[in-house]
Amino acid sequence: MNTAMSAGQRAQLLLKASSLDQELRWLGEQPANQPANTTFSGVTYPAQLPCTPKVTYTDGPDTVRGSTGVTGFPAQIGLAASWNTNLAYDKGKAQGDEAFRKGKNVVLGPGVSSGRTPLAGRTPEYLGEDSLLGGTLAAAQTNGLQKGNPDRPTMAVLKHYIGNEQELDRQTSSSNVDERTLREVYDLPFEVAIDGSSPGGVMCSYNQINGTYACENPLLTGNLKKQLGFDGYVVSDFGAVHSTTPSLKAGLDQELNRPLYYTPDKLKAALSAGQITRKQIDEAAYRVVKAYIKNGLFDHPLPTTPEDNVSTAAHKQVAQQIATEGSVLLKNDGNVLPLSSKAKTIAVIGQTASNTPTNGVSAATVCGMSGFGAGSCTTPPVAPLDAITARAAKTGASVIYDNGSDPAAAAATAAKADVAIVFGYSKMGEGSDRTNLNLDGNGDALISAVGGANHNTIAVLETGTAALMPWQKDVKGILEAWYPGEQQGTAIARLLWGDDNPSGRLPMTFPKSLADLPTQSSAQYPGVFADGSTTRPAGDTSIRQVNYTEGLAVGYKWYEENDIAPLYAFGYGLSYTSFSYRDLSVQATKQGIEVSYEVTNTGRRAGTDTGQVYVTLPKAAGEPGKRLAAFQEVELRPGQHKKVKVTIARSASDHPLSIWNSHKDAWTTPSGTYTLEAGSSSADLPLKKTTTLR
Ligand code: GLC
Repeated sequence: MNTAMSAGQRAQLLLKASSLDQELRWLGEQPANQPANTTFSGVTYPAQLPCTPKVTYTDGPDTVRGSTGVTGFPAQIGLAASWNTNLAYDKGKAQGDEAFRKGKNVVLGPGVSSGRTPLAGRTPEYLGEDSLLGGTLAAAQTNGLQKGNPDRPTMAVLKHYIGNEQELDRQTSSSNVDERTLREVYDLPFEVAIDGSSPGGVMCSYNQINGTYACENPLLTGNLKKQLGFDGYVVSDFGAVHSTTPSLKAGLDQELNRPLYYTPDKLKAALSAGQITRKQIDEAAYRVVKAYIKNGLFDHPLPTTPEDNVSTAAHKQVAQQIATEGSVLLKNDGNVLPLSSKAKTIAVIGQTASNTPTNGVSAATVCGMSGFGAGSCTTPPVAPLDAITARAAKTGASVIYDNGSDPAAAAATAAKADVAIVFGYSKMGEGSDRTNLNLDGNGDALISAVGGANHNTIAVLETGTAALMPWQKDVKGILEAWYPGEQQGTAIARLLWGDDNPSGRLPMTFPKSLADLPTQSSAQYPGVFADGSTTRPAGDTSIRQVNYTEGLAVGYKWYEENDIAPLYAFGYGLSYTSFSYRDLSVQATKQGIEVSYEVTNTGRRAGTDTGQVYVTLPKAAGEPGKRLAAFQEVELRPGQHKKVKVTIARSASDHPLSIWNSHKDAWTTPSGTYTLEAGSSSADLPLKKTTTLR
C-alpha cells in the first residue's frame, strides 16, 4: 500500500507475499474482486491478503448499466458522430463518477470495432467504421474514466478483441481474416485507443479468429501485448473461455464471472503436468494486480453503500451535449430548418416522439443502449414532443401530435400544419443482427405519407446504424439523432429551432442499398457452413466460417475503391452555416507530412466544422481508397477563418503512411507519391495536393 512505489513494484510485493492459491484468485473475476469471500460457485480459495480491495465490474460502454439513478447517456454511435474528443473525455469522466458512486469501479467499455457491416447488432455500442476516429474517441473516454475522478477512480476495459463484427453465432463462428487486414483494420482502433489511454483491461471476444477462439488465441500475446504494447490484463467475455492451458499460454489473464477453466484445481493440475509454468501464472496475476493498483482501485476503496441518485445536472448537460453534437443534419433543402416563427402550426408525428407508448414504442424505446438491444434509460427521457411543444409556445406556434400508427391519419394531420416533423426509428443491439436497414414500425411508409401531405416535412431518425431512405425525396429535412439519451427532447428541439447549430458528422457510411455493402457474398456475411449454406443444419454445432475476403476495403474505403456512391458519406454532415476550404499546403518531413489549410465560415451564423484530412498511399501499396489521417474541430463566427495545421506522423499509432508487411512482420512506408485531401467529408474534399516520400 506504499503509494511512493510504482504499481509494478507494489504488485510484485503483494504477489511475493501470496501463496500460490492466493495468487490464483487474481485469475478469476469473482475471487479477484471479492476478497472477503472464499467460495465461488463451489470453488474454494484461501482467504485473500488483507490489503486487497473489493472491485466491481459494470457494463456499458454507454452508461452505468443495471443501475437506477444514473444518467441515460446517448448510445456510443452518437458520441462517435460528435467527433469531439473533449466530449468523449467528459462523458467518460461523468460515467466513471456515477459508476464509482454506485459501487462499481471497473467499466466494461468503451467498445470499438471496424464497422464491417452496418447490420451488426452492436453497431450502436461502438464508435463507427474508422480506426482513427473510433480509437481516438475510445482513448478520450478511457482517459475520462481512468483519470477524470482521481478520488473516485474507475478502470476501463476496452472490448471486444478481436473480429467480433456480428452477433449471429458469435460463440460458434470464426472470423477468417488475413494477417495484413487484421493488423491494418481490426487491430488498429485498439492500437490507437491503447496508445492514447492505457486502458487497464482488454476483453477478448466470443468468436474464433482463423479457427482459434479469441480468448485462447496467440494474438493476445503476439499482437495485443507485443505489437500493440498493451500492458494491462486480458479478461474474457462472459463464457468466452474454452480451455485452461491454451488460454493461459495465449495470454488470457482473468476469466470473467465464475471460475470454470481457471479454477485452482485445473491450473495446478496443468502446472504439475508441466503444461503451463509458474511464470505464466505469475505473469497473469501480475498484470491484473498491477492494473488494479495503477488505476487507483487499491488506494480509493468503493463506498460501502451506493448512493441513490448520482445523475447530476452537469452529467445531464453532458448527455444533452452528446445528443446535440452527435445529431447529423443530412438534408436541409430550402433551409426548411431551422424552424422560423412563420411556422404557426407544427405537426409532430411518430411513436418515438412521445413518452406515451403506442404499441409499446415511445421515446424511451430509443433512449439509449441497454443490454441486448436499444432500450430505455433509467431516467425517463425528455420526450421530443414535450420539448418541441414548449419551444413552439415561445413563438406562439401550436403543436398537433399524431402517433403515426396509421400513415393515412398521420398524413391528414400533417396536411393541417405549416411544418411536419416525423420521427422514424429502428431497434437493434447485442445478441442479434439486423436483416435490413429499413425503419421499424412501418416508418418508411409513414415518412412517405407525411412527406406527401406536407411539403415542409423534416424526418428525425433515431436509429442505431445506417438507414436506407426510400422516402428521401419526399422530405426537405433529415436529422439523424441515433439513440439520443434522456435529454433527447431538449437537444432535438434546440437543433430544430437553431438554438444549437448541428455539427455532427457521420461516423459510418450510409449506403444506398444492401447490395452496395462490402460483404457481398454469404461466405463473407453472415458466413457459411461446410455445405455452403448460411443456415445451421439442425443439431449442427460446427463453426460458421465468416470470411473477411473484402480485406482492407471496409467502410468508406470499399465505396471509394469500387466507385459506389453512398447515400451519405462517412464524415458528412450539414450545418446551418457554410464553410469553405482553401490554401492547402503539404510538406514532407522526416517525421511524415505537415499539412495546413484554411477554413472559413461563409455563412451568417456561428458554427463548428470538423475538417478532415485524408491520405492516399502510392498505388504500389495496394491500399483501397484513402484513409482518414487527421480531423480537427474548428468553431468559427460568420466570416471568420482559421488556419489549421496537422502533422501526419509516420510514427502515429494509426500508422497513417504505412502498410503492414506480413513478410517482415513490420510496418513499412512505401516510397512514392502520397495524395493529401482536405475538406468536410470523405466525399467532399475540395483541396488536394501530392507529395513524395522516400
Ligand atoms: C456480454 C457482452 C460483454 C459484456 C459481458 C458482461 O455478453 O458481450 O460486452 O461486458 O457479457 O456483461
